[in-house]
Amino acid sequence: MKLFQAVSTLVAVSAMTNVATGFTLVAPRSLATTPLVTSSSPTTLMARGGGRRGGRGNRDVVQEVKPTMNEEIQATELRVVTPNPKGKDDSLGIMSRAEALAKAKDMGGLDLILVNDKSDPPVCKIVDYSKYRYMLEKKAKELKKNSKATEIKEVKMSYKIDVHDYGVRKKNALKFLAQGNRVKCTVMFRGREVQHDNLGFDLLEKLAEDLDELAAKEGRPKREGRNLSVILSPRAEVLKAVNEKRRADDKAKKKNKKVAFEEKLAAKASTDAAAATTNALAAEGLNGELSVEDTIIDMESSLDDLLGGSDDLTDDIFS
Ligand SMILES: *[C@@H]1O[C@H](CO)[C@@H](O)[C@H](O)[C@H]1NC(C)=O
Repeated sequence: MKLFQAVSTLVAVSAMTNVATGFTLVAPRSLATTPLVTSSSPTTLMARGGGRRGGRGNRDVVQEVKPTMNEEIQATELRVVTPNPKGKDDSLGIMSRAEALAKAKDMGGLDLILVNDKSDPPVCKIVDYSKYRYMLEKKAKELKKNSKATEIKEVKMSYKIDVHDYGVRKKNALKFLAQGNRVKCTVMFRGREVQHDNLGFDLLEKLAEDLDELAAKEGRPKREGRNLSVILSPRAEVLKAVNEKRRADDKAKKKNKKVAFEEKLAAKASTDAAAATTNALAAEGLNGELSVEDTIIDMESSLDDLLGGSDDLTDDIFS
């Protein structure tokens, strides 16, 4: 038992390492706060080839932390929920373990997954495990995307910079900051120019002042060899605006995909209807009204017309 725990802990640690690579199936927060191996909730750790997920090198081995589910669930009484089409959870109430398992079976052979063993009674979700896993992966990806540390950009200049070039650097810095990036502003000195570093210092202070509305200095300008630099980081309001915009863009993108997908479905439905009509006409044609050959040519051309649209929409929406 001791040995088993030690081994599990090792595996658990490597599973946590994978949080950084984004190939975990558990939201990082729950990993950080919940021990992976506890006596009350045995957690199965499985390795799977992650190549198709785009892993490289060592990342190819992905630790999948499987939740406790179905027969593995020990509690005798459970609060059961199931996701509705809107993706929110509907409550199915409190029931016995046996009832919950039967319910999952009734609902088309779905899985009963323990999602919270800390509450009383524990909460289980009836859902298709592969769909559940996909949702978790998607959430983890989104989390990673949003927490993606802002990039650090750099603008460089000489302490002898002229007004025009200064304007260009300022404009670039402004653009980077407005995108939510931190900007390292560097004044480079050559050789003995470094004795003028007070001018460089003033230059950086001026730049920081000119960008004051968008950004704050992270400390005072610092010497790095012959360089003098200061990092400007976007103010909270700027970051908030950037995040809001990103969210709005994502939403619009999703909506566009949905509309395109629905149009595609509608087009397919009318193609099917047209084919049905054509088939009916063909049947009539056999009775002498139309020649079979004419009808088939008609059918093909109308199918071509209807299928003329782009075919990658359906693929796209699931990618
Ligand atoms: C000074 O800045 C330039 C441009 O960013 C960089 O290439 C160089 O490595 C820096 N030198 C030092 C000592 O940091």
